[in-house]
Amino acid sequence: MNKKGKFITIEGTDGSGKSTQLELLKKYFADKKTDTVFVRDPGSTQIGEKIRYLILDTQNTAMSDETEALLYAACRIQLVNEVIVPALERGTNVICDRFVDSSIAYQGFARGLGKEKIELINSFALEKCMPDLTVFFNLPPEKGMLRKNNQKELDRIEKESINFHKKVYNGYLSLLNAYPQRIHSIDASLSVEEVFNSVKNIIEAMRW
Ligand SMILES: Nc1ncnc2c1ncn2[C@@H]1O[C@H](COP(=O)(O)OP(=O)(O)OP(=O)(O)O)[C@@H](O)[C@H]1O
Ligand SMILES: [Mg+2]
Repeated sequence: MNKKGKFITIEGTDGSGKSTQLELLKKYFADKKTDTVFVRDPGSTQIGEKIRYLILDTQNTAMSDETEALLYAACRIQLVNEVIVPALERGTNVICDRFVDSSIAYQGFARGLGKEKIELINSFALEKCMPDLTVFFNLPPEKGMLRKNNQKELDRIEKESINFHKKVYNGYLSLLNAYPQRIHSIDASLSVEEVFNSVKNIIEAMRW
């Protein structure tokens, strides 16, 4: 790929404030008039949104862990092929709400399928585009759950036990340790404004 744009991913446990900050980032990039697209993984393609619905539907209690992992990987490569790679090739930056790190944390660590298997089934996506920068919203899952309690109905993954969400969090910490150059952790327990300042500082410090 002749990559001209930057690829940034936003990661963190449920309720860590990713969507809140992504809304602020949209305004920030619009004001800068930088050509940037915002996408979510899973989703952001016609096929991907259908797969997302399948994955998150609370009625799908019979879904096996392996099926879940493969559906996320299928959804992701559709997003990579249809949106992310074409955007990066034409010089548009891409900011993605979650990416492969989420699968490693949720399906690899919390479901217990292992980091290697998740990397293997995501190799189509990983070979085409690794993020230039990943911002990890570091918030202990208990706090994220409390924040989400005021919210809409929970989806199939959000409904998992606190123990599951702790494993996800520990998975992220392990990724942070493994890829310190790419993944930057920010304290997501601070106010929305303080968190946004940290996000902005990290993005502005990156080589554009
Ligand atoms: N810094 C903050 N301090 C307190 N509450 C916050 C903060 N940031 C976001 N919230 C609130 O926490 C809840 C979850 O935030 P948000 O939806 O942005 O998280 P998320 O990481 O996108 O969650 P998910 O993984 O489920 O998509 C929302 O009600 C939001 O208003
Ligand atoms: Mg969100």
